[in-house]
Amino acid sequence: MMMYKTGITVGVFDLFHVGHLNLLESCKAMCDYLIVAVCCDDYVTKIKHKQPVYNEQDRIRLLSALKVVDKVVPVTIEEIENKLLLLKKHPFDCLFSGDDWKGSPRYQKTEEQFAKLGVSIEYLPYTKGISTTQIKNKLLGQKKTEEV
Ligand code: CTP
Repeated sequence: MMMYKTGITVGVFDLFHVGHLNLLESCKAMCDYLIVAVCCDDYVTKIKHKQPVYNEQDRIRLLSALKVVDKVVPVTIEEIENKLLLLKKHPFDCLFSGDDWKGSPRYQKTEEQFAKLGVSIEYLPYTKGISTTQIKNKLLGQKKTEEV
């Protein structure tokens, strides 16, 4: 397994769940220092067109309390969409992502940009059967059943 000095991973991490934990544990197993870049509330509402359940300060606090996480930083829409800006602000030698992003136009472009700079991208297995969206839907389903 490749070992990196500083790794970073980017995400919303709303309603923190075991899929998130699996990802972060896998990242930490591959780097000495793990930075988690947390998407700002504006990104969730304006770009993902969703309403975060936990605001960015709370998402940051929850992630900061994890022993596999060394540093948590908030990221802007611009930094999420252009990972070169992220690299400039928080230098790292590997960007980790769940493999649900592999092949997406944004990550393909980032792979090309990073290759020139000697920065790696590692895709880690996405945990099947759980996501923030699934949790929200499950809770909505339960609420409807309770109302009947
Ligand atoms: N992730 C994962 N396995 C899951 C859910 C998320 O590996 N079951 C990873 C994603 O690939 C990403 C990071 O966790 O690298 C943050 O994902 P995020 O979008 O915050 O989580 P989701 O639960 O997928 O949220 P949503 O349902 O809103 O898309």
